[in-house]
Amino acid sequence: MSMELWGRKYVVLVVVVLLLVGFGILAISEFFQHKSAIPAAVQAGEPLYTTYCASCHKSHGRGIPGEVPPLANADYLRTHPVEHLIRLLLFGYKGRMVVNNEEYQSFHQPFAQFLTDQQLAQVMSYVYNAWTNLGPIISADTVAFYRQQGQPVTTAEVLEPQKGLDIEQIPRDLLLKHGQKVYRWYCRNCHGLDGKGRPSVYPPLKNSDYLAQQPIDTIIHNVVFGLQRPIKVNGVVYQGRRMPPLSPKVSDLDLAAVLAYIFVEMTPRNFTLDLRKIRWIRKQQFESPGYRKVTKRPSNG
Ligand code: HEC
Ligand code: HEC
Repeated sequence: MSMELWGRKYVVLVVVVLLLVGFGILAISEFFQHKSAIPAAVQAGEPLYTTYCASCHKSHGRGIPGEVPPLANADYLRTHPVEHLIRLLLFGYKGRMVVNNEEYQSFHQPFAQFLTDQQLAQVMSYVYNAWTNLGPIISADTVAFYRQQGQPVTTAEVLEPQKGLDIEQIPRDLLLKHGQKVYRWYCRNCHGLDGKGRPSVYPPLKNSDYLAQQPIDTIIHNVVFGLQRPIKVNGVVYQGRRMPPLSPKVSDLDLAAVLAYIFVEMTPRNFTLDLRKIRWIRKQQFESPGYRKVTKRPSNG
């Protein structure tokens, strides 16, 4: 074998090895990014969930039709405050319950004797943030407080909650991360991954003077009901295509998260998100005469 051929083979080998190592590092760092994206408090809850909850609610969180209500994408978690869920799990419940428009008439075992404050906090943080859910991270102190109060939930609270989940309780990074997910599912097809849109066809959401100047309520309204009148964004008129009304699969909380994402990452703006207002506007959407013809009223929190 001539020296020259050896040299060439050697170069090819080195390149191949470098490529393999390179891809390996990429794959590993993606893996760790994925892992570290889940907060420690949520990660710690997963094995507890598997041991204490998955036999009924299942590892996919969708429960057992007709018998055990879902936890994944359950409106119940959004329409009831955190303290309600803590009390439900601590002291149990027996009676009617409605989750995502399905009725259950069963009972929940109390966990006060089986799980510590820390464990309950972890398993609830997991349930609040597993699958496609979004919710707060619960502290052991909060659980300890309600354990001490010793008040089980009542049927009235289960069926007619006075207060829903408070958006202020959701850590900002979880809210934004979720908002990015929602954006990728429901908005990027038209407005683009980077939010730059397509000139004259789909307006930009990134650095949009429209988004910077219009009242927040108008923007929420446009996203919820869709938009089909001409608008001017950064000097360009958009009038050809219409934006469709928001899919009923997007929960009120999802909508709040995507708005937060846009107002932080795309067109930075001071904003206050009022979940009650968002709920009210969504309710109008589902009750508008044109809407019912198209699709059944969804469950929504
Ligand atoms: C033996 C089966 C069983 C186990 C185990 C169980 N659940 Fe439940 N869960 C139910 C049933 C049944 C209901 C509905 C109760 C009713 O109809 O009164 C429910 C309701 C709920 C609800 C409120 C409704 C909803 O879907 O959002 C939450 C939250 C919940 N469970 C969380 C948990 C968590 C967390 C665990 C583990 C720590 C757990 N459950 C363990 C059967 C179970
Ligand atoms: C099917 C394509 C499509 C999808 C999906 C879509 N939009 Fe739009 N969007 C449009 C079009 C077209 C306009 C301009 C409509 C007009 O001029 O009447 C628009 C306008 C807007 C505007 C106002 C203009 C601006 O640039 O500031 C906002 C805000 C907006 N969209 C947000 C969203 C959000 C948030 C989502 C995801 C939940 C979304 N859109 C999903 C097509 C879409």
